[in-house]
Amino acid sequence: MERESFGNRFGVLVAMAGSAIGLGNLWRFPYLVGSYGGAAFIFVYIFCVFLLCLPIFMSEVIVGRRSRSNAFGAFKKLAPGTKWKWLGAVSVVTPIIVVSYYSVVGGWSVEYFLKACTFEFTAGATQSEMGMMFTKFISSVWSPIVGHTIFLLLTAAIIISGVKSGIEKFGKIMMPLLFVLIVIIAVRAATLPGAGEGLKYLFKPDFSKIDTSVCAAALGQAFFSLSLGVGTILTYGSYVNKKENIALSSTYTATADFFFALLASCAIMPAVFAFGLNPQEGPGLVFETLPFIFSNMPMGWLVAILFFLALIVAALTSSISLYEVGVAYLVEEKQYSRRGASILVFIIAWVCGVLCSLSFGPLSDFHIFGQTIFNLFDKVSANFLMPVGGLLLVIFVGWVMKKKDVMDEFTNGGTLRGNRRISGFVYFLIRYVCPVAVLAVFASALIF
Ligand code: PHE
Repeated sequence: MERESFGNRFGVLVAMAGSAIGLGNLWRFPYLVGSYGGAAFIFVYIFCVFLLCLPIFMSEVIVGRRSRSNAFGAFKKLAPGTKWKWLGAVSVVTPIIVVSYYSVVGGWSVEYFLKACTFEFTAGATQSEMGMMFTKFISSVWSPIVGHTIFLLLTAAIIISGVKSGIEKFGKIMMPLLFVLIVIIAVRAATLPGAGEGLKYLFKPDFSKIDTSVCAAALGQAFFSLSLGVGTILTYGSYVNKKENIALSSTYTATADFFFALLASCAIMPAVFAFGLNPQEGPGLVFETLPFIFSNMPMGWLVAILFFLALIVAALTSSISLYEVGVAYLVEEKQYSRRGASILVFIIAWVCGVLCSLSFGPLSDFHIFGQTIFNLFDKVSANFLMPVGGLLLVIFVGWVMKKKDVMDEFTNGGTLRGNRRISGFVYFLIRYVCPVAVLAVFASALIF
């Protein structure tokens, strides 16, 4: 059977940017910026994205396109008979863990979108009322599970349609829509009286705030936001055609992802400051603080609908990339049909997601290593499996693959002159700088 691939460069870009741009940009980045001191965090984040994570991103695409295989098959093909296949195995399991809790948050977005459409963020609500609404919602049994199920079903429906007519087509429609939605919201937020303080918080760095915890958080976020270390970019890379310029499409994706995170912060922080709220709200920012702001600002009902719609769209294009890793593995390694593979991944992710969802309510006292199930899934994947996966992957590209093969992919057999010129520098980053830096940040986060 002929292997599917993306149709053209725009298709590659929307798929990759779709994976990268997600809850990480709209939900995680703004609250991390708030918690880690604003502009100083963004400053460190820029280095993490462009100097460390971009070369890792390119490495994943290189492994994918070189092998033309799913995340497990890739290592079997490029390093046959070695232990590297275990990295492949981890790269298939991790995204299934991530998609299960990711779709729980996706489900919250569905529920909040419906709340916005039915005008539940009533004018004049206080912040604590909104906080209580959220706590009551996530600790209940059924509504979050319904949201999780709807979200996962939507993801599965797109996946079943295939790479070109599912993933690529959905991205081509949704990514431009997402961009328009966020710009509208950012403009609305920036024109609120008192919004200037928020913009200052985002763009005027206080360098004394930079410490190891800021660096570790920034690197972790860069990994998460660029979807690294979990086999997703590798799998998408395997659908990239041989003529595509890997350096260029990776750089476009990282740049789009970065600006999108900034734009999301510009949509949120000015509003937080305009209402005199604390930017260091943490994870509740999007589901507690924002609904309060929406319920109290002019035209807030409309902004709320647009915002939660944007959140669903962004989360969906990311969850399909996570879902695709398991499906590609089952189809290519275990000879499942695409439909059969999608159903099996659905069942696993649904069950794990239900456990995550219940860990805010009936299972909140059930702890593993001192963590609830949701937190365990989140922490183990974002703080451990992703960085380790990414680290091993650059080591694989920098030290195990033949330099000639890596360069061949990077320069399309020497035909891309521009890439030839920068290839030495990029290879140096992949071979030395990325592994050492990731290891250092990782170790410091464990020590401090
Ligand atoms: N990058 C996505 C986001 O920012 C999350 C994600 C992580 C998606 C890992 C795929 C793989 O929300």
